[in-house]
Amino acid sequence: MNKSVNGSTPQSLREAPRWWSSAVVYQIYPRSFRDANGDGIGDLQGISERLDYLAWLGVDAIWISPFYPSPMRDFGYDVSNYLGVDPVFGTLADFDAMLARAHELGMKVVIDFVPNHTSDQHPWFAQSRASRSSAKRDWYLWRDPEPGGGPPNNWKSVTGGSAWAFDEATGQYYLHSFLPFQPDLNWRNPDVEEAIFDALRYWLDRGVDGIRVDMFDFLFKDARFRDEDDPDYTFATSKRHINQPELLDVLERYRSTIDTYPDRLLIGEIFPETEIDRLRSYYGRGNRMNLPFNFKLLSTPFDAPNLRRAIEAYLDGINGAGTPNFTLGNHDTVRLASRIGADNVNLAAILLLTLPGAIFLYYGDELGLAQADIPPDRVQDPWEHRVPGKGRDGARTPMPWSDEAHAGFGAADEAWLPVPVEHRFSSVAQLKADDVSTLSLYRNLITIRRSAPAIRSGSLAFCQAPSNVLCYSRKADGQELWIVLNLSDEQVRLPEFSSEKSALVISSDDQQTRQTPECLEIGPRQGAIFQSSDDCSTRQRKPEPTASINQEPAPWDVKSLLLP
Ligand code: NOJ
Ligand code: CA
Repeated sequence: MNKSVNGSTPQSLREAPRWWSSAVVYQIYPRSFRDANGDGIGDLQGISERLDYLAWLGVDAIWISPFYPSPMRDFGYDVSNYLGVDPVFGTLADFDAMLARAHELGMKVVIDFVPNHTSDQHPWFAQSRASRSSAKRDWYLWRDPEPGGGPPNNWKSVTGGSAWAFDEATGQYYLHSFLPFQPDLNWRNPDVEEAIFDALRYWLDRGVDGIRVDMFDFLFKDARFRDEDDPDYTFATSKRHINQPELLDVLERYRSTIDTYPDRLLIGEIFPETEIDRLRSYYGRGNRMNLPFNFKLLSTPFDAPNLRRAIEAYLDGINGAGTPNFTLGNHDTVRLASRIGADNVNLAAILLLTLPGAIFLYYGDELGLAQADIPPDRVQDPWEHRVPGKGRDGARTPMPWSDEAHAGFGAADEAWLPVPVEHRFSSVAQLKADDVSTLSLYRNLITIRRSAPAIRSGSLAFCQAPSNVLCYSRKADGQELWIVLNLSDEQVRLPEFSSEKSALVISSDDQQTRQTPECLEIGPRQGAIFQSSDDCSTRQRKPEPTASINQEPAPWDVKSLLLP
């Protein structure tokens, strides 16, 4: 087979494999996962109740969006106390119980950490805004109006409009990169860093396994507060507002704080989608940031040329500097199934679970959930109120656990966001009972990922393939697997995949996908993973148990998932 070998190393040469090197990290939006106390809002106890499901699914870690005390104007991304749990989510004891249960089941827990800004209700901001001479005035970014009035410069907030809000009482503006109730902290003030690092230690002491730092590349702003040259700048092209040189220094200090605890993961939310060199710089020497988020696939058109280009450019660009990572969904993005179309959902599962490095799986995407339509009177997201169409509620609706009332989310008559009727028919209970559902496919793929060295740590090389067919191989320890995704609407014939190679898994039980002694015929929008028929390394190995409670047989040899 003619291959164009991708020169990148899928796993860092400089870092021995760590627990996240090929991990599946499952993102939980806590308001929406499971409501244990019946008030209509998901909570920590609800997460505890559903950890068995995640162990069954086989994920290695969970990442939980913020659960700290907050006025919830940005649903937790507006923190009013870094050292606690908001009562709506439960108590610190609930957190500890959830963490302990996750660890018992063999899962790691990563928490979200929001150091760029606080809520305007945080006592630090209350003190800061109290007077110009307050001891905490310099904890935030205060500036005088322009001579003649108006905001100090032309910086914009991410949600549109000026990034400055005027405080009548003290006659100055404060900076908010997001909404006005989210004032930015002044990271050039060492007391701010100390206070935030105290909070970091507080959670690491409690036993969390990693942190995901919100908006890492926003922490520092131009010290001279100069205008952006191009008033139409975006955050990708910003030269002044963000992306300051101090970021790599503060990263060293995050690292050394975290490294006083063994084996902790540092993930950073950063947005240099178009600047791969900058993204690589976050890995630094010796992996300062373990997983600088790679958001590229969230905006890549779901066709073979674009996916190949995006994956190759990323892997070549990071060039073995650290563990790669991939994600296809999160709480800020339209749901995967609606972005790429329902008929591509199973292909996306195969793609995601066979890519190198760590992967992030957004809750509900394993069910193939589509973006929910939110009636105007149920809108919650402040972004939607500010700029209609920008809202993120449609990707944050309650997880459907069953087809019972309220989809098994909780006992409340009305959840904080409505459950779309169609989601009730894609519930965990229903899809679990169906061997060829998207959920069963995800579970099979996770099982394969955990036990196949080629996927865990192998090289990746793209193969030549007919148009709109994505084909790549993964190879390690004498095992070679081929992944074939037919993203076209036509059946294709691939002579390379005669019955000398055998299918480990296919995307569904489609009749148009057949393997003959001469070739593979693969149906429209079908995908599969193959291995050499004489390769026993995968087939004969029993999958690792996903967790101690996992009593059910693994789906390794489910006949319906194998080609005839
Ligand atoms: C990025 C988070 O992912 C998003 O949900 C939030 O609104 C902003 N940061 C502000 O914290
Ligand atoms: Ca609740």
